[in-house]
Amino acid sequence: MGGRGGTGVREHGGAALPPAVDAGRLRGRSVLSDLDLSAADVADLLDTGARLKAMRLRHEPHPFLAGKTLGLIFQHPSTRTRNAFQAGMEQLGGHATFLGASESQMTRGETIADTARIMSRYVDAVAARFARHEEMEEFAASASVPVYNALSERFHPIEALSDLLALRERFEDLKGVKLAYLGDGNNVCHSLLVSGATAGLHVAVAAPPEHRPDPAIVAAAEARAAGPGGRVEITDDPFAAAAGADAVYTDVHESMGEPTDDAKKASLAPYKVTEAIMAVTRPGGVFMHCLPMRRGEEVEEAVADGPRSIVFEQAEHRLHMHKAMLLLTLG
Ligand code: CP
Repeated sequence: MGGRGGTGVREHGGAALPPAVDAGRLRGRSVLSDLDLSAADVADLLDTGARLKAMRLRHEPHPFLAGKTLGLIFQHPSTRTRNAFQAGMEQLGGHATFLGASESQMTRGETIADTARIMSRYVDAVAARFARHEEMEEFAASASVPVYNALSERFHPIEALSDLLALRERFEDLKGVKLAYLGDGNNVCHSLLVSGATAGLHVAVAAPPEHRPDPAIVAAAEARAAGPGGRVEITDDPFAAAAGADAVYTDVHESMGEPTDDAKKASLAPYKVTEAIMAVTRPGGVFMHCLPMRRGEEVEEAVADGPRSIVFEQAEHRLHMHKAMLLLTLG
């Protein structure tokens, strides 16, 4: 390790590490849900993500994790999360290995706990995508390296953090930004509620009563909102949620691994993001989606591909936030 200079930044491989690395709050920790992160942790991740983004845009090498290896184990398909972790680790000077759970010995009965013990002996951290959050927790309990939730049915924390980074880049200050989430009260909704409230956003969720987010997670988000001045609102009126919003967000009406449920689709249909919904946001209000999206189902094509859609800008921020997570936990 290089010494600390008068600037207060540590030198590493010719590049300066973000100050949050020195703060060390996240070093060695797992992130299984948004509830694992304090307001200070979220601020560190956002600052570090912005700094890493700037370095990449300047084509400035940033091999802070040279010699480190990330393992990925995924039960579900992925385009963004897998690529963001793998490309991000390479850009940080490290390496990444990928194991599809369906190609592993777990298909022949090897336990999640044994898999975690084995992977921990090969790699410095593991990104895991499990269908059930309990499986994520079981894996992390037997791992001896940091484990990142790369999506479970309950939380998608790095997605939400990446979305906050995209919003901060656009609106500069997150405090008081109104984010309206319309549709299924699912894992992405849970993470946006908790991380959004932690960062001081006003998160308004519109969902039918039978598909609202888990009340325990809403209560946790409300408790966090009380600190940094955020606000949480749950309604069944999509127009009320979107009124004056800075961003309207939605997700697919049928999550990965869920059986097709026509009754659920019918119940969520009024929560489709339409041009009429976007018309009640504040001028300059943007459309967000974690992707992949089903145009015509949860969002009108004209909104999805219209001038107010920032879905690809949002997806780009996955890379910067995944790198921030890796750097702050492993740096
Ligand atoms: N939003 C998201 O997690 O995308 P992937 O499933 O492609 O990783």
